[in-house]
Amino acid sequence: MEAGVPEHVAIIMDGNGRWAKRRGMPRTFGHKEGAKTVEKICRDADEIGIRYLTLYAFSTENWSRPEKEVSALMKLFLKYLDICYKNAMKEDMCCRIIGDKTGLSEELNESIRKLETDTADHKGLHLQLAINYGARDEITRLVKRVAEDAAKGTLSPDDIDEAFISGHLDTAGIPDPDLLIRTCGEQRISNYLLWQCAYTEFYYTDVAWPDFNREELVKAVEAYRTRDRRYGKV
Ligand code: FPP
Repeated sequence: MEAGVPEHVAIIMDGNGRWAKRRGMPRTFGHKEGAKTVEKICRDADEIGIRYLTLYAFSTENWSRPEKEVSALMKLFLKYLDICYKNAMKEDMCCRIIGDKTGLSEELNESIRKLETDTADHKGLHLQLAINYGARDEITRLVKRVAEDAAKGTLSPDDIDEAFISGHLDTAGIPDPDLLIRTCGEQRISNYLLWQCAYTEFYYTDVAWPDFNREELVKAVEAYRTRDRRYGKV
């Protein structure tokens, strides 16, 4: 599959908890299985010809989950970043974390810095992991920086246009998503990439994230290819 493959796919990885519950297992088991899916889907996406993959791992709202679940997720991210680093070195993957990193532990920030720095020049799949990410928070952080620069006199209203905003969001330099996939039945955007998804095609599936695989990704891509895209990219 090559022609008509979306350049940038964003995914809301939903349903780990329900997947685990159906098996009589704790939610954290679902997250661990979900992490394995992340690893596989990066490889699949790359092989299919997708250039950019942006995965919603932890939202700014997710802090309100039970403390035990949040700390299990943070531990899982730390472990995954290590795996991701090794894979990125082998597979030439370029990795970036989007979201408010100041809300993450120093240990996580250390792993993120290493991963981002050492993979910055890689030419393979561009993976963006959204951790402590919320689109409203992303836009709020941007507006604050703009207000500070305006107050200092280093920015004037004439400097601000759509390209300026796109170029100052966490996703600066990355094309907008062509396709947004949400797993496990819900059909909401949940504060994900609100600015960037202005012209994005949406695809929903009932499959829970731990069961999502290459075949499901290909189905989503095939559905995308049948869409008549009027705006955004051709
Ligand atoms: C949604 O499932 C998933 C999350 C809140 C987190 C996504 C995390 C992963 C896929 C695991 C690890 C990721 C990485 C990058 C290592 P849910 O808990 O909302 O499930 P539910 O809707 O069935 O309760």
